[in-house]
Amino acid sequence: PKIAVFASGSGSNFQAIYDAMKAGDLTGSIALVVTDKPNAFVVERASIAGIETLAIKPANYPSKEAYEHVILQKLSELQVEWIILAGYMRLIGDVLLEAYPNRIINIHPSLLPSFPGKDAIGQAMAHGVKVTGVTVHYVDAGMDTGPILAQAAVTVVDGDREKTEARIHEVEHELYTKTLNQLFSL
Ligand code: GRF
Repeated sequence: PKIAVFASGSGSNFQAIYDAMKAGDLTGSIALVVTDKPNAFVVERASIAGIETLAIKPANYPSKEAYEHVILQKLSELQVEWIILAGYMRLIGDVLLEAYPNRIINIHPSLLPSFPGKDAIGQAMAHGVKVTGVTVHYVDAGMDTGPILAQAAVTVVDGDREKTEARIHEVEHELYTKTLNQLFSL
């Protein structure tokens, strides 16, 4: 299928999906990258990959609805079938939820429902959990609340955020491509 990847940051998950598709390990193609942060590194990654980017700031629109209508227009033009969130730091609103029922997926760096929202890895470390992980889930109107598709556990490296985080990202890249492959071949 044709997908759009939404991202606000580094885009390592975008990269993993792109690389897996290029290698023939994941079916489908990325038609568009959408970002709310025009300076995010994901924009550079997309440009290197030759993928069109829609980089627009919500602050320049009168409402979330207006912002999402601009995105939806572009998604429709490109006949995008799935929205894949990869570090997109905003809640999805009704315009996109209604246009893409059960077709919006997110990845989150914790074992949901533990540690939703921002800095899930920091939250897990601060809480002192020994095992955290990664969750891939359907997106609904809530913050990291939709039905869970897949999870993988990651052992916390005691007191070492950097190592824990690196391992979580590695697991994210594997779990996301694997889960999307299953979804796309249904
Ligand atoms: C990932 O940890 C993802 O789970 C979270 O945001 C981070 C994005 O990382 N939602 P990247 O931009 O894909 O490198």
